[in-house]
Amino acid sequence: MSLRVSRHPLVQHKLGLLRRQDTSPWIFRRLVHELTLLLIYEATDDLRLRSEAVETPLEQTEVRTLSQRVGFAPILRAGLGMVEAALEMLPTADVRHLGMYRDHITLSPVEYYQRLTGTPPADVYLILDPMLATGQSAVHAVELLRRWGVSTVKFVGLIGAPEGADCLLGAFPDVDVHLAALDRQLNSSGYILPGLGDAGDRQFGTISL
Ligand code: URA
Repeated sequence: MSLRVSRHPLVQHKLGLLRRQDTSPWIFRRLVHELTLLLIYEATDDLRLRSEAVETPLEQTEVRTLSQRVGFAPILRAGLGMVEAALEMLPTADVRHLGMYRDHITLSPVEYYQRLTGTPPADVYLILDPMLATGQSAVHAVELLRRWGVSTVKFVGLIGAPEGADCLLGAFPDVDVHLAALDRQLNSSGYILPGLGDAGDRQFGTISL
């Protein structure tokens, strides 16, 4: 089981700003972007490398380059805000959007979009979703990727609830989960406490709470 909650001071500082209810949508989006850069950096620290000979302007040397291809699987809508930052770190990564919304009564994911066709072009896929709440969307996303033929899957989120982490790691103990914080609990509507509200609404300025 691998749950890693970042202890990086920049992550904690930016997360504090993100949680504030007076943080405006554009600053919120900026913070999601910056936090994603930092979390992707941490979540990719075990990617495999291979040695290669290159010519510098002065002589030949050995360098190490990535030997694993990385892909991103953002869960719509809130995961969209993490994509640009993820691509800033790995510009050639494959991106597969996974469209799911939460049924407000059952809190179960309802899938409405995915294009996981052909052979996966990457070896490792990182699911991007700011909130790991009940964990059901994350479990569904891992199932979709595994069915497509991806064996190494990681989850990168900003805030998780213990219920969500237990659900995801209970179903898939081999999935590494990277978060900026693990909060106290879910409320009866499936929101994370203390959390930050609805991550999609806060990024795009829509109101639902
Ligand atoms: N999704 C959100 O955006 N926020 C929560 O607190 C839970 C799920």
